[in-house]
Amino acid sequence: MLVPTTDTKEHSMSENHPAPVTVIGLGLMGAALAEAFLRNGHPTTVWNRSAAKAAPLVAKGAANAATVTEAVTANALVVVCLSLYDNVDEVLDTAGDALDGRTIVNLTNGTPRQARAMAERATARGARYLDGGIMAVPPMIGQPAASILYSGPEDVYEPHRATLAALGTPRLLGADPGLAALYEMALLSAMYGMFGGFYQALALVRTEDVPAAEFTPMVVTWLTAMMHSLPRQALAIDTGEYATEVSSLATNQAAFPNLVDASRDQGVGVRLMEPIHALIERAVAEGHGEDGLARLVEFAERP
Ligand SMILES: NC(=O)c1ccc[n+]([C@@H]2O[C@H](COP(=O)([O-])OP(=O)(O)OC[C@H]3O[C@@H](n4cnc5c(N)ncnc54)[C@H](OP(=O)(O)O)[C@@H]3O)[C@@H](O)[C@H]2O)c1
Repeated sequence: MLVPTTDTKEHSMSENHPAPVTVIGLGLMGAALAEAFLRNGHPTTVWNRSAAKAAPLVAKGAANAATVTEAVTANALVVVCLSLYDNVDEVLDTAGDALDGRTIVNLTNGTPRQARAMAERATARGARYLDGGIMAVPPMIGQPAASILYSGPEDVYEPHRATLAALGTPRLLGADPGLAALYEMALLSAMYGMFGGFYQALALVRTEDVPAAEFTPMVVTWLTAMMHSLPRQALAIDTGEYATEVSSLATNQAAFPNLVDASRDQGVGVRLMEPIHALIERAVAEGHGEDGLARLVEFAERP
């Protein structure tokens, strides 16, 4: 039987006595979270639908809860990481009144709307609630480069900040529980856009049998150089001053068909390039040809 603790005890844990924590969900990410807590000396209770996934963590010192209720009751801090918010609802529903007095930190990927609704449901059941977004892959968990975004009330976050720091660099974005999901979706959008460009680039050079591994360092150098323009573009977006001395939308509009034609000539699709091409065309058609590329954010914003 697991020994229950209360939230007030959690607050008083010192660095020499790391606070106990429960992790619900032991997929690739949840297992990495539990491992990081264990590595940092936090007594860790785990639960997973497929119980076998607990075994490697139990071997490293975790306690395996037989039920969700047992897992939630075991500790004041409960970290949840499942595939979808629907799974979180389904799983936490089985815990009944046990959520009362617990702090739930939901690190499952979802939307701001889902996060806000989950916060309401959890608090209605007497829990304190933080939503979170993991900006890392499992091998990064526990390292400073793993950025973990949180949103929710500061007085809920603060007592657990030191414990959550075992997972990576924590950052509270604000009281609105939807903020972490909003930032996560924004950052993932930037990532997928970059990956899309990378795949298009590889598709092009592979038509001439250039190995991906040979070409990729050039992509990294090029994207790193281009990345330096982002703060300047952000300034233009915030001020609405889109005049450019670097590269106008008109210049990009004139050159873009070459990119499309080159792909077609090489027998490569242009699906990934079409959306950005359409935005450039529209921005120029609406009279913004002299502006820099940053003007496109206004066109991306339109539904
Ligand atoms: N992996 C990454 O690189 C990464 C990075 C950032 C964020 N995330 C997010 O972290 C979350 C988990 O990802 P993951 O990579 O750990 O996925 P995963 O390896 O597929 O694990 C999914 C977890 O959800 C559980 N689950 C799914 N449906 C369930 C249900 N109906 N009832 C109970 N449990 C259920 C699974 O239990 P079973 O083991 O029983 O199937 C497992 O514990 C996702 O929201 C993901 O987007 C992942």
